[in-house]
Amino acid sequence: MQLDDLYRRVIMDHYKNPRNRGTLDAEAVTINLNNPTCGDRISLQLQVEEGKVVDARFSGEGCSISLSSASMMTEAVKGRSFEEAISLAERFSGLMKGEPVEFEENEDIEALSGVNKFPARIKCATLAWNALRKGIEQQQ
Ligand code: FES
Repeated sequence: MQLDDLYRRVIMDHYKNPRNRGTLDAEAVTINLNNPTCGDRISLQLQVEEGKVVDARFSGEGCSISLSSASMMTEAVKGRSFEEAISLAERFSGLMKGEPVEFEENEDIEALSGVNKFPARIKCATLAWNALRKGIEQQQ
């Protein structure tokens, strides 16, 4: 199997069986963002305690790239400190620039590496990560 096929399968698996789709209670940090190029939107909720993201959920509409990215991100960020969460988001920005970064927190994220060749889709892939950054920044 070619790497592209493997990556496509990983992306479609997260799209069809999203992890952490849903909502947390009203006290959770809530960030609503939309992708200005298509109007799709995401609502990310983070449950934070003592400088850590203890739980994460997302809802909204979007394409397979944006929703699979949100699924992968929420998996990776649970249990991480704010610093670790920002490090994840920074590495994801690097991935979108074609840099060879690794995600030992959730290797599925590397399946989105091919997106960097499609500038219009980078906004789809980064939507959830921008929401994560915004949510953490609000806490600092
Ligand atoms: Fe709207 Fe990808 S086309 S988020």
